Amino acid sequence: MRCAGIVVVFGVLVISATTPVSGKICDSIDVRNNITFLNKLRNCTEISGNLQIVLIETTKSVEDYDDYVFPELTRVSGYVLFFKVRHITSIGKLFPNLRVIRGLELIFDYSFILNNLPNLREVSELFCFVQT
Ligand SMILES: *[C@@H]1O[C@H](CO)[C@@H](O)[C@H](O)[C@H]1NC(C)=O
Ligand SMILES: *[C@@H]1O[C@H](CO)[C@@H](O)[C@H](O)[C@H]1NC(C)=O
Repeated sequence: MRCAGIVVVFGVLVISATTPVSGKICDSIDVRNNITFLNKLRNCTEISGNLQIVLIETTKSVEDYDDYVFPELTRVSGYVLFFKVRHITSIGKLFPNLRVIRGLELIFDYSFILNNLPNLREVSELFCFVQT
């Protein structure tokens, strides 16, 4: 699937519908205040619920994110929210294999929100947003 650019997401975000064969299914995860809480995401292949990463403002530099890469995570059934996260430059670097955000639960009518990320340079080359 090729995507020319980013389209506003109202419902389902689907990049490719690969289903993980095995893995750890995690409940909703809320990461806030301290970057080290990103470790809650370790080994999760799928989040059955929502992912919120918010109010992480005590980081010192963009390099602080170098230790946080979650290639296992491929699907989130609800919404994904990033709000006020300093020094993060790329969502795709954090979640290189995130393919599906289903939006079974929405936040402010959206399945994917990036708000107040002052250092963000890219979402991901792979992401394609499908409006439903
Ligand atoms: C974040 O959590 C780590 C580990 O618990 C702690 O060492 C560090 O001081 C915390 N950082 C801030 C800014 O609170
Ligand atoms: C993730 O998996 C590794 C290897 O199986 C294990 O050592 C580690 O404790 C797990 N971490 C969490 C948070 O589940």
